[in-house]
Amino acid sequence: MSTNQETNPLFVDPPWLAPLAGYTDLPFRLLCRECGCGTACTEMISAKGLVYDDKSTLKYLNTTAEDSPLVVQLFGGEPHFLYKAVKMLHELGFRYFDLNAGCSVKKVVKTGSGAALLKNPQNLQDCLQAMLEASGRSNVGVKIRSGWYVSNPNYLQCGKIAEDTGAAWVTLHPRFATKGYSAFSDWSHLKELKQHLDIPVLASGDLLSAQEGEKCVEQTGVSNIMFARGALKDPLIFRKFLLARFDRDMNSTGDIFDSAKEVGEQNDLAGTVIPHEDKDIIQEKQQLIKRHIDLACKFEDEKRAFLKMRTLIPRYLNSFYRVGEIRKRVIESASWKELLDLLDNLGQWLQERENCTNFDS
Ligand SMILES: Cc1cc2nc3c(=O)[nH]c(=O)nc-3n(C[C@H](O)[C@H](O)[C@H](O)COP(=O)(O)O)c2cc1C
Repeated sequence: MSTNQETNPLFVDPPWLAPLAGYTDLPFRLLCRECGCGTACTEMISAKGLVYDDKSTLKYLNTTAEDSPLVVQLFGGEPHFLYKAVKMLHELGFRYFDLNAGCSVKKVVKTGSGAALLKNPQNLQDCLQAMLEASGRSNVGVKIRSGWYVSNPNYLQCGKIAEDTGAAWVTLHPRFATKGYSAFSDWSHLKELKQHLDIPVLASGDLLSAQEGEKCVEQTGVSNIMFARGALKDPLIFRKFLLARFDRDMNSTGDIFDSAKEVGEQNDLAGTVIPHEDKDIIQEKQQLIKRHIDLACKFEDEKRAFLKMRTLIPRYLNSFYRVGEIRKRVIESASWKELLDLLDNLGQWLQERENCTNFDS
């Protein structure tokens, strides 16, 4: 396979934003890009839904010139639907595609899609082949897990099939489909897969902080990483990762984890709670949330944007100390004014909580 990691825009340093159903819409992708994300993925989109011109499916394709490079992730288990979907997307101007072979949600796997493809490597190959043919044989990747059953790890086999079929990259989330999110990701699978393939291997799985991203690259040698839940909690994770890498490169003789740790400590890298709220961190969070609100209002109707932001903001507040009451108020807020007032007074709220001795949350 001829993918050149040096020149392919998808494999320059910045980490990817992983596909996240329900989250990686246009406003969130743009926010993450402003925070240093390189390539971003759409959430998984049904190939069949696209072919049948399902309006609820088409809304996932909303994009802008700044939203680039963009990988459209598809799910499906029938090669002819994947072929038609990619053909259509290619004609619309989309250039990068990913096949979801990792989703273990019942609704998806019962149709033979997602991680069910790992149980049927021949169909995995046929689906990839169809996508490659429709896209002009380039820029198609696949996202897999370590296998379906723990007793049958087949990530090396599936990765090799992908490479031999012509895939441009493989992403591995090193957990088994039957295990969901239980147990820690097994990064040794990433290292093995990287050594087994010539095409780029991307890592996904338990990269919840910039430090963990750094550690994963160091330990496994993967070509790049994807932030998923880590980006939902803190989109600045991308910038923090790049800073830590820059710091490491500048101090290549020193202990890279010490320097990454320093940046982490300053910026709440590890996602640990911050007991004594730092003014700068509060301000950084307020700015980030307001920017997300601006982007959501720009690309969604206001009511939808409001309902969405009410559910997203609490996640951004999790890194603060004892924020149960503030989170509740955000979720229950009835207007933008109420929500923005809460945000503006975040510092004061946090201070009051800290001074209070009777904590209930
Ligand atoms: C809410 C949510 C939605 C997800 N949606 C998708 C998806 O649409 N496609 C996909 O390939 N993986 C999806 N994933 C899996 C993530 O992309 C990622 O591989 C996984 O969360 C492991 O990374 P993490 O431990 O760093 O979060 C989803 C995960 C979560 C938590």
